Amino acid sequence: MAIEQASLTEISDVFYRDVQSLGMSPLWRSTQPGPRDGVPAAPYQPCHWSWSDIERSLVRAAAIVKPGPEAERRALQLCNPGVAPSPSPTHTLTAAVQMVMPGEIAPSHRHTMAAIRFIIQGDGAITMVNGEPLSMTPGDLILTPGWCWHGHINRTEAPMIWMDGLDVPLVRSLKAGLYEGYPDELHPATKPIDHSVSRYGSGHLRPVWEQTSTKISPMLKFPWAQTEQSLRDLAKVDSSPFDDVAMQYTNPSTGGHVLPTMGCWMQLLRPEAHTRAHRHSTCHVYHVFRGSGSTIVDGVQIDWKQGDFFALPPDCWHEHLNRSSSEPAFLFSTNDLPVFESLGLYREDAYAERDGHQEVVASYAARYGDSRN
Ligand SMILES: [Fe+2]
Ligand SMILES: [Fe+2]
Repeated sequence: MAIEQASLTEISDVFYRDVQSLGMSPLWRSTQPGPRDGVPAAPYQPCHWSWSDIERSLVRAAAIVKPGPEAERRALQLCNPGVAPSPSPTHTLTAAVQMVMPGEIAPSHRHTMAAIRFIIQGDGAITMVNGEPLSMTPGDLILTPGWCWHGHINRTEAPMIWMDGLDVPLVRSLKAGLYEGYPDELHPATKPIDHSVSRYGSGHLRPVWEQTSTKISPMLKFPWAQTEQSLRDLAKVDSSPFDDVAMQYTNPSTGGHVLPTMGCWMQLLRPEAHTRAHRHSTCHVYHVFRGSGSTIVDGVQIDWKQGDFFALPPDCWHEHLNRSSSEPAFLFSTNDLPVFESLGLYREDAYAERDGHQEVVASYAARYGDSRN
C-alpha cells in the first residue's frame, strides 16, 4: 500500500512538472478569486488625509519646485498603504491635490487617462481643455476627458488649489496608458471662456441642432452655484437612507455619468444626518468641501472636517454622520461606478443589523494611525 501511494505521488509530481513546462496550469490548484464563502469583504483598508497636512505640504512644495520642466505638475498624490505600491487612494482611482501659484503655468499635455478637477481654493485661474478656457471657482467640477490637451494658468493674485482625480490605475491595468507633451507651453484658446457651460449649462436644455449622444460629457464645467442649488432643492423633497441628499453629475447628452471610467457625486448631509450603513462593489474617494462629521467604515470611525479626504475600498460597510446641528456638510466624491455598471459587476447590500448602524469598535487613528510608517 505504501509503495502504491509513493508511486502515485511520484506520478502526480511528474505530471505537475510536465504541464508547467508545456505552458499549462491545473485549474484545481489555482487560488479562487475572492472570499470562498461568497460574502464580500473589503480587500484593503480605508484611508484618511487631513487638510492641515495637505495644505502645509503644498506650501512646502511651492518653495521647492515650480511647474515646468522640473515638475510638470505641483501635485501631491494621496497614497493609501492598502494599495501600495500604487500611489493612489484606491485600486482604480488616483487623487492628488495640486497648487498653482500666482503667475505660474502648468504646461499643456495630454494622456489617455481621464481626469476631473474639483476646485478647493482660489478664484479665477484657468484650465485650458482642448482650446476651451474654463475659469475655476471653489466647488466647480471641471472635466478633462482622456486625450484632451490641458494646461493651467494662474493670472490671479492668490494660489489656486484643487483636487485632481484620475482613472490611472484602471487604464494602466488595461495597458492603455499613453502620454504626449505639448510642444509649446500652453495649448491656445480657440473658444470663448466657459464655452460648453454656455451651450449646455441649463442642465435640461440643449441646442436643437445637436442630437447626438456621447459617452463623454460635452459640458466640461459644472459650476458650484448650480450644484448647491440643486442639492438644496432636492433636500426639500427627497433623500437616500444611505447617502442622504446625494446627486450624480450627469452628461447632458445622455443623462448618464460624465465620463466612461469615473463617476462624480456631490452630497449634502443635512444637520445631524446619520445615514444607514451599506456596502457596494465600487470604491469612492471623498473630499470634504464643507462641514465636519464622521464616516464609520467597517466599525472604524473616520472623523473629517473641511478640506480632508478619505477613501473607501470596495465592499466596506460605511455610514455617514454630520456632527453639526445647524450646518449642512457637503461631500464631493469620485467613484468607479460607470465601469462596474457597464460590466454588470455592481452589487450593493444594506446593513441589516442594529437598525442599520454599525458598532464603532475603533477610531481611525487607533486602527490605522501608524499604517503610513
Ligand atoms: Fe494631465
Ligand atoms: Fe456608499
